[in-house]
Amino acid sequence: MAFTVENNVLHADGVSLAAIAKQVGTPTYVYSSEVIESQYASLASAMMACLPANRQPLLCFACKANSNLAVLSLLRTLGSGLEIVSVGELKRGLRAGFDPQRIVMTGLGKQRHEIMDCLTAGIKQFNVESLPELAHIAKIADQTGTVADVAIRLNPDVSGGGHHKISTGRKRDKFGIGLDRMYEAFDMARDSAHLNAVGLHIHIGSQVSEVATFKEAFEKLPALVEDLRSRGHQVSRLDIGGGFPIVYQDEKLLDLMSYAQWVRDIIAPLGTEIIMEPGRYLVGSAGVLLSEVLYVKETSDRDFLVVDAAMNDLIRPTLYDAYHRIEPVANRNAIAHKYDVVGPICETADTFSIDRVLPTMSSGDLLVLKEAGAYGMCMASNYNTRELPAEVLVRDGAFHIIRHRQTIDEILDRDIVPAGLA
Ligand code: LLP
Repeated sequence: MAFTVENNVLHADGVSLAAIAKQVGTPTYVYSSEVIESQYASLASAMMACLPANRQPLLCFACKANSNLAVLSLLRTLGSGLEIVSVGELKRGLRAGFDPQRIVMTGLGKQRHEIMDCLTAGIKQFNVESLPELAHIAKIADQTGTVADVAIRLNPDVSGGGHHKISTGRKRDKFGIGLDRMYEAFDMARDSAHLNAVGLHIHIGSQVSEVATFKEAFEKLPALVEDLRSRGHQVSRLDIGGGFPIVYQDEKLLDLMSYAQWVRDIIAPLGTEIIMEPGRYLVGSAGVLLSEVLYVKETSDRDFLVVDAAMNDLIRPTLYDAYHRIEPVANRNAIAHKYDVVGPICETADTFSIDRVLPTMSSGDLLVLKEAGAYGMCMASNYNTRELPAEVLVRDGAFHIIRHRQTIDEILDRDIVPAGLA
């Protein structure tokens, strides 16, 4: 059912967004369980259709895209593993019930306590981003009497992804280890009793819409795997990252069947376990940010819709000039009018869209910013001392508050005024 219009009112999985706003207030993130379920199913079934049973990938949801415990729990019930980048995400994953052996940890600044906690939890693997990090993991594994399974992240020097700020696979990017130092990394792992190099990791960026981009990035992989094996290294796992796109405006979608066939032809023959790390694809289109129009401000230059959501709630338009579709919740057939949709924050960057044609709206009307399920709430901040929004999950015809709106007191209570100033 997902997002549908019934009686000219937008619904999520059959529940009216107006009813949710009335009970929970705004701004609020609302997620559709059905969309998450169908996105998971479409990725998993493309793999099922193309790959043999013994080469089915472990889909490790990239927790950074949406880390709410309810969303994580839903994904776990669907069969997902988890990709984490911090001890905070480890704790979320464990609390949401993920088997540590289905959790992989990436991140180029892993700290001592994070490595320690991941080792203690017994996660599946560390995706290692540099030689000093590898040495650090070995040292901590030694101290804790453990052996760390590590995959070395290859920087393939390929630009992938929709925006330069989310492209991770170029030589100039801070991620991964270049081919020139790859053997050194594997040798280092072999020489340590506390490291077990299980394979390679590659993630080139987000919003990758062409199989050709993956082809280019992975071109040297088969030869590299063969070469590593001929030198006595075990390569039993390939983590081929995430980056599967969704449509925000008019982007081209990745043809999942062609992608799966490429995995079958290029990756599967290498005879390894396969891991993928989809983030946005699983949750992006499942979420909207529900907001109320505070004022319609008419000026001689343009008309503004001043809404109660702001860049602190959804930073993507500000940070990446990202496009999010905007739709009214009700009265969707009103005469078209051109607006700039802006939040209340005191800088011009707090603008969701410029010259957007929408049905005419009034103060008190509700609207949604669509495709806000990924990198929305998890990037929200308290800028301007604004509370973090509430989150709601709609499931089986009912809605559940899955995170309470933060209170101002919760924000203020963190500050400490030294005695002399009180
Ligand atoms: N694996 C690794 C190692 C990653 O760094 C990422 C995302 C993913 C998987 C998941 O990528 P996805 O499937 O979601 O494209 N805040 C930005 C996106 C940053 C992505 C960071 N890494 C945005 O709002 O577009």
